[in-house]
Amino acid sequence: MEIIIQPTPEAATRLAARMIAGLLQRKPNAVLGLVTGSTPIPLYRELSEMRFDWRQVTTFNLDEYLGLPPDHEKSFHYYMRENLFKHVNIPPANRHIPDGLAADVPSHCADYEERIRKAGGIDLQLLSIGLDGHIGFNEPTSSLASRTRIKTIAPQTRKDNARFFGSEERVPRHCITMGIGTILEARQCLLLAFGTAKARIIAETVEGPLAANNPASALQMHANAIFCLDEKAAQLLKRAVYYRWVYDNKPAWQRH
Ligand code: PGA
Repeated sequence: MEIIIQPTPEAATRLAARMIAGLLQRKPNAVLGLVTGSTPIPLYRELSEMRFDWRQVTTFNLDEYLGLPPDHEKSFHYYMRENLFKHVNIPPANRHIPDGLAADVPSHCADYEERIRKAGGIDLQLLSIGLDGHIGFNEPTSSLASRTRIKTIAPQTRKDNARFFGSEERVPRHCITMGIGTILEARQCLLLAFGTAKARIIAETVEGPLAANNPASALQMHANAIFCLDEKAAQLLKRAVYYRWVYDNKPAWQRH
């Protein structure tokens, strides 16, 4: 794992944007795995302001609430439209988000996996992390080999997300999410985490044991996982001095 600690969320966001820009320059038909939530909003803004031709880009979102139609303003379809898709020219046929209204959920999930395979797999999967270690909606004790499927959202996550819905009661109980096995197949994972509230789970994920009880710890098994953190999210890392040393001593060809 590569742990990058930046002074502020803004600096970390700029760095993540540079990494994605570099990928799109090298590979204009890249397949991006996208994430929702509050963490990546400034990143999407930054990317929207870069004048890229996104026509060949394909995207796959990690998850969607079950039961929400795409025009529901708390759906991840709506979020993606507002925060990225309406600002860039990714063809609608290239944008994939699980369907919150799928009539046959298991076959929709199998089809989603198939679409990822047919697109050639995900080049870069963006991730954020929940306070309980979830990535996507893979809550604690999710199988580390799991694939895209229905999940029951944990009570704590529903509490955390109540701020988006106005009340906890309105937060859906189920979702469709890529599995941890799906995420681990991306060629690169880029996880962003900012703020003191994320410090404990980041320390457990990076320096704690690999365990289904902390789904994000599965990234320890990924050959190319980058954590892009601000100082606050990094404050409980015991080896922070080493991570900074590594970053400061990268050979020029390895720099982001
Ligand atoms: P956040 O959500 O970006 O809003 O902190 C992270 C998550 O729950 O995965």
